[in-house]
Amino acid sequence: MTTVPFFRNSTTWQRVRDGVEADIARSVDKGLAVDGILVREVEEELTRRLGCAGVRLTASGSDALLVLLKQRGIGPGDEVIVPAYTFFASVAAIAHVGARPVIVDILPDRYTICPDAVRAAVTERTKAVVAVHLFTTMADMESLAALSADHGLLLIEDSAQGIGMSQRGRLAGTAARGGVFSFFPAKTVGALGDAGAVIATDERQLAEFDEILGRGEGTEPTYGCDEIQAAVVRACLPLLDEFKDKRRKLFAYYDERLRSIDGVRRLPSLGPENVGYVYVGEFDRRDELQAHLRTHGITTEIFYPLPLSRQACLADVADCTKPVPVAEEASTRVLALPLYSDLLEEEAAYVCDIVSDFYCRA
Ligand SMILES: Cc1ncc(COP(=O)(O)O)c(C=O)c1O
Repeated sequence: MTTVPFFRNSTTWQRVRDGVEADIARSVDKGLAVDGILVREVEEELTRRLGCAGVRLTASGSDALLVLLKQRGIGPGDEVIVPAYTFFASVAAIAHVGARPVIVDILPDRYTICPDAVRAAVTERTKAVVAVHLFTTMADMESLAALSADHGLLLIEDSAQGIGMSQRGRLAGTAARGGVFSFFPAKTVGALGDAGAVIATDERQLAEFDEILGRGEGTEPTYGCDEIQAAVVRACLPLLDEFKDKRRKLFAYYDERLRSIDGVRRLPSLGPENVGYVYVGEFDRRDELQAHLRTHGITTEIFYPLPLSRQACLADVADCTKPVPVAEEASTRVLALPLYSDLLEEEAAYVCDIVSDFYCRA
């Protein structure tokens, strides 16, 4: 039976393997370390690409968020407004620094935080808003920046999914004061395990990141990235444009094939500033479709199965009282299809055949 995994990176690995192995040997010669020579080289390259004050690699995107929230002085007594529809880490990081997440609804069609819902949730304890860039698109940074300025709030970018995305010419991660990347393997640029980055938009912020990361003389490093993951990110970064193009072509192919199927609702197609990080559609009888795809060897994911305000573990630490009808509806209908730069066109064609088959037989 044909199988299409949700993610695979074996072809990319074969391409970069020699360079990665040579880099790891070079690092071992210097004394392999967390925050070693390869980490520093990736930081320099990312700083150059982003045109920012500096970048620090971290052990994961989740750790990068923690470093950013700490640097921005968020802690106990603060409320932080965050979307109901995002990866758990966006909310966990807020709770981890001792602040209270206030979970609000998202915009239909783009799945990012709804500025009106943010405005309605502001209290005298609100300290910050987390703008999460999701799937293909950055959050509406212009509206969020305006309302943050009106209410004196910090605007934090959770750009873990956002490498390569931009809005009005500003790259994800540099559109507020500080952002993050995740290099989890399935990301547009992925390591072989966990890795992340925190992005500084000015020198003072960079110095404060270094303090939190224990980068100074005689301090103990924490949240740092290891050299093996840095070697893979170093090899894959130059391929970012190629990865984006490949994802864009596959995205367009899915769009074209699925557009005409009754029962499938697609997000807007990719504009030049979007990146096809995840291909998400809304599907009638989603769970049945997922099972049908599974029996045909195709793995899919539900991003995300519950609005975060309905996660039991957050009941005591977050404000889960706001209505989130858009997130509720999305969580019952969304399905992410396989989309990655190693995916073959014939595999995408097979996925579309099986989706069509499901709805035609209904
Ligand atoms: C929106 C968002 N924030 C944070 C993270 C955390 O990144 P990591 O998995 O590298 O810890 C992710 C990872 O998928 C994410 O999608």
